[in-house]
Amino acid sequence: MHLIFSIIALLFIGHGVHMHLCLWSPMQRGDFDISTPGAHPCYRKIGPCGNINSTSSSPRTSLVAGSKYNVGFQQNLNHYYTNFPGALDISFAVGLNPSENDFHVLHSFSDYNAMNQITQTNFSIEVNLPNQPCDECVLRVRYLSNNLDEDDHGTVFHQCSDIKLTQSLLNTLKKEKENKIQLIENINRQRQEDPHDCCVPESYTNAFFHIIPAIDYQSEGIIYYDQKARQMRVTASVNGGRGNTTVDGLFDMWMNFTSGMQYYYNHHSGTCDLYGLDFWNDWCFGNKYNQSEDFVAADVTCKSPFGPSQRCNQWQNGEFIFETFASSECLPSSITRPSGEKINYIQGKTDPISPSIFVPNPICLKQKKVKHASPRWMRFHF
Ligand SMILES: *[C@@H]1O[C@H](CO)[C@@H](O)[C@H](O)[C@H]1NC(C)=O
Ligand SMILES: *[C@@H]1O[C@H](CO)[C@@H](O)[C@H](O)[C@H]1NC(C)=O
Ligand SMILES: *[C@@H]1O[C@H](CO)[C@@H](O)[C@H](O)[C@H]1NC(C)=O
Ligand SMILES: *[C@@H]1O[C@H](CO)[C@@H](O)[C@H](O)[C@H]1NC(C)=O
Ligand SMILES: *[C@@H]1O[C@H](CO)[C@@H](O)[C@H](O)[C@H]1NC(C)=O
Repeated sequence: MHLIFSIIALLFIGHGVHMHLCLWSPMQRGDFDISTPGAHPCYRKIGPCGNINSTSSSPRTSLVAGSKYNVGFQQNLNHYYTNFPGALDISFAVGLNPSENDFHVLHSFSDYNAMNQITQTNFSIEVNLPNQPCDECVLRVRYLSNNLDEDDHGTVFHQCSDIKLTQSLLNTLKKEKENKIQLIENINRQRQEDPHDCCVPESYTNAFFHIIPAIDYQSEGIIYYDQKARQMRVTASVNGGRGNTTVDGLFDMWMNFTSGMQYYYNHHSGTCDLYGLDFWNDWCFGNKYNQSEDFVAADVTCKSPFGPSQRCNQWQNGEFIFETFASSECLPSSITRPSGEKINYIQGKTDPISPSIFVPNPICLKQKKVKHASPRWMRFHF
């Protein structure tokens, strides 16, 4: 009984070593012959590629990355185990001579019962090729016999094909798009991280001249900015400041970002209007501080003739050019536009600002009627 079993087992082993497989789409490494059943080039047992190594000058089939491809191969002898069916699989690895662990399976299917060992069965199996181009990669077909008694260089049969995967047109376009997005992200990151981006000192006072040539507009005044107190005050004299209107008057504005109130006081008419403020905005330059300003240049000639220095750092937002003096202090120099409009800043002071500067004129405090406020402001304050 035992002897009979052994003989049967030996017969199976004998059949096992005759399993044959050849691959032509894409063409296998080394010799190829399927003219007869049991052809020698179809018998390659040693992994991962049947003991045939590739070189960079080996024949190589060019396929398109990410495309569908019909792998063509022949089971040159069939050896089906009823109780322990084997499998065939198609796998892929990147590299000239990848190792076993580099391969990943693209498709796998069970052996079939041909009822006759001497059966040459062609297979054409569609696989999705990996989407990543590679210059040197391997497409492999295996026969996994599952025969634990198999002792001829293991139980697996290998056939490797050297291929390269090229970029498809779609992939090329996709890649180009990705590159462009990457480029923009890099530019934005650089801009976000530009070391010149800066904010004016926490406590800052300076005078300004505002000129709009097209309408003969000219105003001058003082800006008080207290970052910690969340207070600002701006005085402005428009076109000489001798009248009562917005184009010829003298004005004082108090901005309290805690109460959300901005008073607009007309010196000559003695009237005061109340407005609702939006949110506090630090006086800063550059995208790093969410000013939507791209850094343009460091240490260029200032557009403004005034100031402690002739050299400026420069940002741009649309047609607006912002400049600060090229020092570590971040002192505003000017805002200019191609139309000729410009605001020049002079006499910057970083001394602490007296709290009384921010106390509105008593006439203003009587004003309760809000001339304009954003809906959000209304919700907050009423
Ligand atoms: C193929 O390369 C491997 C790894 O370098 C080596 O062990 C093996 O002997 C080579 N086989 C042949 C046939 O050159
Ligand atoms: C199998 O494919 C080979 C190669 O294309 C071909 O020569 C042969 O006729 C095919 N055999 C069968 C049975 O289709
Ligand atoms: C700003 O508003 C807050 C809240 O109403 C108030 O307490 C504070 O006194 C105001 N500051 C000035 C300088 O008026
Ligand atoms: C400005 O308004 C005040 C108060 O109403 C008035 O006395 C003065 O004449 C006005 N000045 C001008 C230039 O209109
Ligand atoms: C800029 O905006 C981002 C996103 O809204 C925010 O997370 C960040 O705190 C802001 N930075 C500054 C300096 O306000």
